[in-house]
Amino acid sequence: MIQIKKADSSHVAGISKVCSDGYWATYRKIRSEEYIKRNIKEFYNLERIELEVTETSREWGGYLVAVEENEVIGAVGGGMTNETAGEVFVLYLNPNRRNEGIGTLLLKALTKQQKEEFNATEQWVSVAKGNQKGIPFYEARGFVFKKEQKAYGNSEGENYIALRYFREI
Ligand SMILES: CC(C)(COP(=O)(O)OP(=O)(O)OC[C@H]1O[C@@H](n2cnc3c(N)ncnc32)[C@H](O)[C@@H]1OP(=O)(O)O)[C@@H](O)C(=O)NCCC(=O)NCCS
Repeated sequence: MIQIKKADSSHVAGISKVCSDGYWATYRKIRSEEYIKRNIKEFYNLERIELEVTETSREWGGYLVAVEENEVIGAVGGGMTNETAGEVFVLYLNPNRRNEGIGTLLLKALTKQQKEEFNATEQWVSVAKGNQKGIPFYEARGFVFKKEQKAYGNSEGENYIALRYFREI
């Protein structure tokens, strides 16, 4: 049985693995190896995730995880960017577990948190231009394209583009 729960320290290694594996599977063909390695190292190291499951707030609601037989198979996290706008900051699955409805369960749990705890009325997400493993999912869940912007995580000389998507919740 798959359970969605708020992550704690026992899930840190699983979150790191799912996000790192998911990140490689998503970006291998659309980003440089250097970009991928740099971002995985920055965001999905154990020390950072340990802090991110213990120190949560309105701006960072913590990780929510999908767990099956004690194994983390997906993770989501987000926060509020103003009074009414929630943001999906991170959403990854074990790459072998896509298209089973797990992403929808995770997004639902994050949306419930943002609406009930933080009074969100809208939700935003940045998706990499060209990410065909993410964009159709968000569109199927009612997000609409708003604008393009420079990708967060670009270093000097990189010009990757992120697409901003929005929905009312
Ligand atoms: C995005 C992701 C988390 C979605 O989770 P998932 O469990 O695979 O998605 P679900 O099974 O819940 O599918 C939800 C919907 O998306 C649709 N969908 C998913 N991928 C699709 C695709 N490639 N083309 C068309 N529709 C697609 C499904 O049809 C489904 O819609 P429906 O229920 O109305 O039929 C997952 O696919 C993933 O890890 N992708 C790679 C990582 C990524 O891009 N993360 C987002 C970074 S911002």
